[in-house]
Amino acid sequence: MSEDANRRSMTRRTRDFTVLLGTTGTVLLLLVATSALGPVEAISALGVIASVGVAYFVGSAARVPQGISDTRAEPAAAPQAEAGPGLLAALALPALEIGPGQKIMAFNRAAEDLFQLANLPFARASAVIRSPVLLAAIDQALERPAAGPVSAEIETGPDETWRAHVSRIPDGRHVLVLMEDLTPVKRAARARADFLANASHELRTPLTAISGFIETMRGPARDDAAAWPRFLDIMAGESDRMSRLIADLLSLSRIESSEHVLPRGRENLAEIVSACLAVLEPIAGEQGAALKVAGASTGLPEMTAHRDELIQVVENLVSNAVKYSKSGSTITLSFGAAPSLAEARLAASQQWDVSQRMTLLQALARSQGAEPAVWLRVEDQGPGIEREHLPRLGERFYRADQSRGGKITGTGLGLAIVKHIMAHHRGGLAVETLMGQGSAFGVWMPTGRE
Ligand SMILES: Nc1ncnc2c1ncn2[C@@H]1O[C@H](COP(=O)(O)OP(=O)(O)O)[C@@H](O)[C@H]1O
Ligand SMILES: [Mg+2]
Repeated sequence: MSEDANRRSMTRRTRDFTVLLGTTGTVLLLLVATSALGPVEAISALGVIASVGVAYFVGSAARVPQGISDTRAEPAAAPQAEAGPGLLAALALPALEIGPGQKIMAFNRAAEDLFQLANLPFARASAVIRSPVLLAAIDQALERPAAGPVSAEIETGPDETWRAHVSRIPDGRHVLVLMEDLTPVKRAARARADFLANASHELRTPLTAISGFIETMRGPARDDAAAWPRFLDIMAGESDRMSRLIADLLSLSRIESSEHVLPRGRENLAEIVSACLAVLEPIAGEQGAALKVAGASTGLPEMTAHRDELIQVVENLVSNAVKYSKSGSTITLSFGAAPSLAEARLAASQQWDVSQRMTLLQALARSQGAEPAVWLRVEDQGPGIEREHLPRLGERFYRADQSRGGKITGTGLGLAIVKHIMAHHRGGLAVETLMGQGSAFGVWMPTGRE
């Protein structure tokens, strides 16, 4: 690089020198031609100027010594055969550079954590990598470069899977091991499989009951007409349960499939709550529960939301409160606006002094600064929820009262739907509960931009 700069500087100086000599020569020639100057004077003047020029040439050449580069010149970049620690450090994934003899030549921070390399630089790969599959892949890449990149899947824990990509670094004798975390992918696949198994099980239970009663009515109870109304009632109840389940499954899958479509509408929470009340008041009345609303009906900021989804949130939370409370109790629905997500969370889910609390979904703040938010809280005077159930609320099909031997029917999908919808709105969900006194579910979300 400095050689190049020097060459450029020489060319510039040679050009300057030539121009200087040329111009003075021409001027002197003109002066001689017009007899303003004698030839002797002209030659000596040219000599003087030439020596000044030579002095300039030599002097400026001395100012750019070999090896000191021009400021415009870029730092030297020697061709690098191996990945080098700089490149590895920039990689977000765990990466190791391994040389002949399986020696670890370089690694980045992420690899240090994954393989616990802190005190083992230059160790052999086999000292830190326990997976025989990965070691074999490294060996293959080191010994048979022509074979191309290899990848290996390794289990690093009971619920932790990584894929290692092992490839030869071009023009070198080292290999690069790049680790990719497959845990979330595996977890999602397992959740999907569990979900299908659960859903089919939940659907089969009422179906089994219905077909059982059909058999009874066809067989042993064929002539027992007096018993039929009871059988039919049970069958109607079971088929209701099936249709509720299917409705919940459908709405869950609808929400999931629109997950990447951001909510667009501008909605008002007070208006959504009052629309829900029209549907919920009769349901509460049937159960002998009173619905109380505490929230300003005007002055609430609009929020970017999917109207139907938020209606489902309110309906699910209120119908749980009604369902799990004794008759004669009051369910209080409060809502409001807050200058930040954190404050909205407090208002929605931290109102009781001594309660058990659990945040089931954390709102995602988009910026560092405070984002205006709205919140909603549904409070009941029901039995409360035991502490050990709290973390699992919002999991599909999880029903706390099932283990209590409760008779209240449900799908265990309501809170999962609520959680999904709130995630879709970048919002949060939390519960607080006091055994024997009641539970409160709170949701909050940013109002979003116009
Ligand atoms: N307000 C509440 N009071 C007591 N328990 C509740 C309340 N809301 C929800 N739960 C518990 O959380 C579980 C999950 O609720 P949800 O997902 O709506 O399912 P479902 O209502 O169909 O059972 C319920 O089965 C119940 O045990
Ligand atoms: Mg429910």
